[in-house]
Parts: sequence; C-alpha cells; structure tokens
Amino acid sequence: CWKMFTVAVCMAFLACLQAQELQGHVSIILLGATGDLAKKYLWQGLFQLYLDEVGKGYSFSFHGAALTSTKQGQELIAKVLESLSCPEDMEPGRCAELKGQFQRLSQYRHLKTNEDYMALSKDIEAQLQHEGLREAGRIFYFSVPPFAYADIARSINSSCRPGPGAWLRVVLEKPFGHDYVSAQQLATELGSFFQEEEMYRVDHYLGKQAVAQILPFRDQNRKALDGLWNRHHVERVEIIMKETVDAEGRTSFYEEYGVIRDVLQNHLTEVLTLVAMELPYNISSSKAVLQHKLQAFQALRGLQKGSAVLGQYQAYSRQVRREQQKPDSFYSLTPTFAGILVHVDNLRWEGVPFILMSGKALDERVGYIRILFRNQAYCAQNEKRWVVDQSQCLPRQIIFYIGHGELGSPAVLVSRNLFRPSLPSKSWKEVEGRPGLHLFGRPISDYYVYSPVREQDAYSVLISHIFHGRKDSFITTENLLASWVFWTPLLDSLAHEVPRLYPGGAENGFLLDFEFSGAQLRFCQQQLEQLVPGPGSAPMPSNFQVLTAKYRESPLISAWPEELISKLADDIEATAVRAVRRFGEFHLALSGGSSPVPLLEQLATGHFGFPWAQTHLWLVDERCVPLWDPESNFQGLQAHLLRYIRVPYYNIHPMPVHLHQRLCAEEDQGAQMYASEISALVTNSSFDLVLLGMGTDGHTASLFPQSPAGLDGTQPVVLTRSPYKPHQRMSLSLPLINRARKVAVLVMGRVKREITMLVSRAGHEPKKWPISGVLPSSGQLVWYMDYEAFLG
Ligand code: BG6
Repeated sequence: CWKMFTVAVCMAFLACLQAQELQGHVSIILLGATGDLAKKYLWQGLFQLYLDEVGKGYSFSFHGAALTSTKQGQELIAKVLESLSCPEDMEPGRCAELKGQFQRLSQYRHLKTNEDYMALSKDIEAQLQHEGLREAGRIFYFSVPPFAYADIARSINSSCRPGPGAWLRVVLEKPFGHDYVSAQQLATELGSFFQEEEMYRVDHYLGKQAVAQILPFRDQNRKALDGLWNRHHVERVEIIMKETVDAEGRTSFYEEYGVIRDVLQNHLTEVLTLVAMELPYNISSSKAVLQHKLQAFQALRGLQKGSAVLGQYQAYSRQVRREQQKPDSFYSLTPTFAGILVHVDNLRWEGVPFILMSGKALDERVGYIRILFRNQAYCAQNEKRWVVDQSQCLPRQIIFYIGHGELGSPAVLVSRNLFRPSLPSKSWKEVEGRPGLHLFGRPISDYYVYSPVREQDAYSVLISHIFHGRKDSFITTENLLASWVFWTPLLDSLAHEVPRLYPGGAENGFLLDFEFSGAQLRFCQQQLEQLVPGPGSAPMPSNFQVLTAKYRESPLISAWPEELISKLADDIEATAVRAVRRFGEFHLALSGGSSPVPLLEQLATGHFGFPWAQTHLWLVDERCVPLWDPESNFQGLQAHLLRYIRVPYYNIHPMPVHLHQRLCAEEDQGAQMYASEISALVTNSSFDLVLLGMGTDGHTASLFPQSPAGLDGTQPVVLTRSPYKPHQRMSLSLPLINRARKVAVLVMGRVKREITMLVSRAGHEPKKWPISGVLPSSGQLVWYMDYEAFLG
C-alpha cells in the first residue's frame, strides 16, 4: 500500500514537472511596483492570474521593480502582498496556501540602469538553468509615467529580451500622448524597440465586464438585433462615466490632460467604436475587430467647438494653486466635465446622436452605455392595461451597466418588450433586480437583468488576456492614432474655452444639463454671470448691436461673429426667397475656406424656409485636388451644408478640376466647361448672389495679387496660381463676379484687421489687392465683417 502511494506521488510529481516542462516558465516584471496603480489593482491582478493558472503547467516568478531602495521596496511589497485577497468562494486554507506560494515567488528589485536590466536577465536565466525550466516568456508591465518609457524600452530591448523561442510582452498604460503628434512620436519611439505584436496598450475599460460583453452580446443576439441596431430604430446612444471624486492629489497630471484626454479620448471612444462598428463575422479575430473599429473611426464626423460643453468644478483652480504653488491670480481653464455630441456618418448611424459624457465631482459614481430605441408605436388601450413584455409603447432600451450607481455591480439590461437576450451562461446569469429599484425611468422588473457569475476587476481580466496573448482587448498603434486624429482638432479648438464652473456633487442641480439640436450642443440653462479671470481669452460680451456703416463706399454690416453669421444667413435666405419668387430659381456661388463654415452650418441647420429645391449651388473657386480630398472646397460644402439639405442633384455644380484622371490640365478645358455651364443655366451669367472672402494678402476667390489671370479679360472662369498650397486653382474671374446681382464679402477674425485697414484706403488696384476689383456693375456689394476684423 505504502509502495503504491509512493509511486502515485512520484508519478503526480513527474506529471507536474512534465506539464511545467510543456508550458514553461513565465517571468512577470512589474515596473512601478510600489506605485498607486500597482498597489490598488496590479498586484491583485497578478495574484488572480496565479490563482487561475496554478497547476496548469506554467511556473512563474514575479519581480516587483521600482526605483525605491531595495530595503524600502521589499517592505512596501511585503505589505501589498499581505493585503491580497482570494475569491469569496475559495476555502480559507487553500487561499492561505496559494497566497504563501505567491509571496514566495514575488520579489522586489531595484531596477534603473541598463546594467540592472542585464542583471535581471542573468538572474532569470540562472533560475531557469538551476531549476531545469524552459522559458515560455517575459511580461514587462509599465506602470510608470510615460517620460520613463523610452529608457526602459531601450534597456529591455537591448538587455532583457527572453531567449530564442520565448515571447516578450510589454504592457503600457496611458497616457499615450497628449495629441496626435505626441502620440505618433511616442508610438514611433516604442516601435523602434518592440514589434507591434509585443505591445499591449491597456485601456482598462476594455477589461470591464459589461464593456467586454458588448461585442459578444451583439454577436449572440444577431438575429434579434440585426433589424434594430441602426438609425431607423435607435433614437440615441449614451456613453457615460460619472465620478464623485475630484482631481485633488493629481492636479499636476490633470492640469496637463483634462477630462477629454483623460477619459473620453480613450475609455469612452473605445466603447463608442464597439457600439458603432459593423459586427465582424468572427468577433474573436482581433484582426477583424481592429479593421472594423478603424472603419468606425473613419465614419466619425469631425467635431466642432459647438459639439462640446465643458465644465470645471469650483474648487479645482484652488487645488491646482495649492498643489503646484501657483500665484493667487492663477485660474485654470482645464475642463473636469465634458459632454460631447458625436455623429457617425454612415448608412447605419446617420442622424443618431451619440452622447459622450464624463466628469469629476458629480452627484454619483456610475458608468453605462445606454441604447435607447425609438418609439414609433401608438397604443390604443389605456396605459393601465399595458403589459410590460408586450406593450410597444413602453420605452425600449439596452443598457450595458459598467458598475457602481444604483445597481452597484456590472449588468446587462434589456427591456422586456424588446427581446429575451442570450448571454453566455457560464459567465453571465439572469438575476432579479432589487424590488422597488427604478433605472432609466422604469422599474427594474421591466428589464431582463443579467450579471456576471463571478465579478472580476478589469485589471485581472486584462492581465489574464495578456498572459494568454489575446490582443483584442488592447489598443493597437493604428487604433490609438485614429482616436487622436478624431480628438485633436476639437482639443485644439477648445484650448482657450472657458469651462462653466459647477459647485460639485448634488448641488450641481441642472447646471450641467445639456441639450442638442442638429450638430450643436449647449447647456440647457443660460449661463449666469461667471467670473473666471483666467489665462487665455475672457468670455466675450455678446450684447453689442449689429452695426451698419460704410466700407469702401458700400454698405458694411459689423457684429460679433455669431450675430454677423446669423445676419448674413438671414440676408441670404431673404435674397433666395425673393429670387425664387421672381425668377423661379436662385443661383448662389459660394467660396471655400474656413470663414464660411459657420455660415454654411447655420444655413444647414437653422433655415427651414430656405428654398433649397429651387437653389443652384456654384463654386466661386476650387483647389485643383480631387473632389473628395479634404482640401477641396466642394468637400467643405459637402461636409457643412450639402449633407444636411435637400438640393436636387442636378442643381449642384462643382468645378470640373478633375477630368480624365488629372487635375486642372489646360487641355481638358475645365474652366471653359464651367463657363459654358454657367452661361447655359444662369441668365446673363449673372449670379443672384456671390459670397466672397478676403485673404490677408487682399486676394479674393482664387485671384491673387501680382497674378494677372482672371482680373480682367473675357474669360469668365480661369485657372490661376496661388502662393499657398495647393498652388493650382480654378476661379470665377472678376468680370464674371461683377456681373452678379449681389456680392457679399465675409471677413472674420483679428488676422484680417491689417488688410481690412489697408484695403479701406486703397483705390481700384486689383493687381495689388484683387478684392479692390470687386465692384458689381449693376448689382450691390455688401461687406460683412466681425468686430475683430473691422475694429481689431
Ligand atoms: C482613469 C482616469 O483612466 O479612469 C481616472 O485616469 C478615472 O481619472 C478612472 O478616475 C476611472 O476608472 P474606474 O475604473 O474607477 O471607473
């Protein structure tokens, strides 16, 4: 009996050794092992990994590394290891045994110089040799500030890579840059040390169980969702992360990043793509998921200043002053709250608002993704007779509840009148919500509620994925850069925006509620007087009158930008209505560039009486680039106007700059073609309205100083050369412009102040100042200048 027992034990031992031999040894090096993130989540995540994997054939060693001295580091780590906990359902004796093993396998080491990394590598090799183990791989978890990345990466690459046949995985924590350029620099730098497949960029929201369930849920419920997951049925999508904590203690980080960079650019954007992307056929293929994500990024409509509302909790500036020793006069413009309206311009989502919101010092801590469906039903019976899972008049929604809040744990909720969802039964179970609980306006009993069988912390989930080499929950370089491409222009345009101050917590009241119309977002409550004498621009008073005067002997209208644009849009509509009444059609020639953008948007979203069906749209000038190029004026027209309005296709007249697969070739006679089209459709070649701008060098349309083309002569449309890129242009000529019934010149911004002054004194000198040649022969010229351009 004793013999048999000994044999069995030996066999088990051998099997164990063989299994280890099969899978090999994994060294995990946690850099920044004494930092906050490590203490709060990473050690626990590593312990969980050990619990999950022990006995499955791998052997482990855990190296906690930091710059702290060895003695101090050892003490700190010992404390953290002591505080680790086992899952609730683990038997205490087993827990103590495994925790003891984990503690023995975990060591602290001071890691700074290249020599330290070489020494670490040697020690790992020595251990492998001593214990007769085969190396499976090494994981380096960077829980350190990004400025330290490059040095560490260099040392790992040169001195601490595993031997042949073993893998290297480096795990990186955000921030991954501050904007597109810095993110790209960092990516290039890291790319010089590591292969893409070796890098695991963490976005811990992808490890949150409810977030990780979005794609599997869409996949498992394809049948029910196929007809619903689109603009015809979804009214809006809300992606929300509310926090009660503020930024105290980390203002040096926060001051540099703010809420958009800290949370929206990464966590909420990742969620957005998971909801919006086309569902890959095989959702476990990380390659397919990435490709579909990138496509979703491409469909995101560019954000404008008006797509955002910003706030800052009142105590924030004081905290920054205190923590960063700033003078009493310092006020920060960093937003701690942001609401953003995103549109996804593709056939599936066109017109559906995606609302992203996050903030510190709010009234509750909660995160969720809510897909609210349209309600197109009318129920004939009295409300009392509605049956929850049958009535189509009750709200219909799907909620991926990330955690905290009223529910207190992750969940997936589906309105009972939608469908009974299917979730993986091994990891999600159907539960009954707390009786009496209301969520999103309905009693919890109105929903099918599912929660995870075993609640898991996001970092534990991600560490397990890293260990198993599952890359689909991590941010690839392409993914990262696509997100920065989307956010950087908005961040730039908001750099000097003054955020609305809020008191914090429940006292915020309705102050941060916001609403949207078209592409614009704004706070519901009008701003009370707010005194933020911060750096950057002070809020502009907007109670100035529209000023009317003369400029170069023609009428001048001047106002603050918003009022000026409103006035011009009203005038254009009035002109259009008159023209249609008299002639049955309206011919409008529009310039490109940035000044008309707010005008186009105003026309698109605020002028419902505009006779678009009778309007012909012409271009004043065009850059010689394909029409789909972002530099093309037509593309601007498309992005800011055409996509919103209903103009008959045959009334839109782009300039023919791209004929026979080439750009503005003389032989293609594009200019002549455009002139013939005008002459055929516009009576007397006399536009009803031509909208022009004025460049800082006095150019207008694409007629430039010291370049004779188009200033006089008989050619109505000409090819010209611009001193700015792209150099080749097509433009209406001055003689043709001057045939118009009305010409409006829109001039905006302080940069135009100097040229405005110069041109006000100039005579008729089109060669020097082409704009001075604008003088309609029998029509009217009106100048529209904002105060900054006119008064400086
Ligand atoms: C981090 C942000 O990425 O996410 C923090 O830097 C934020 O500012 C945190 O508090 C929120 O994460 P969680 O897991 O607590 O929702």
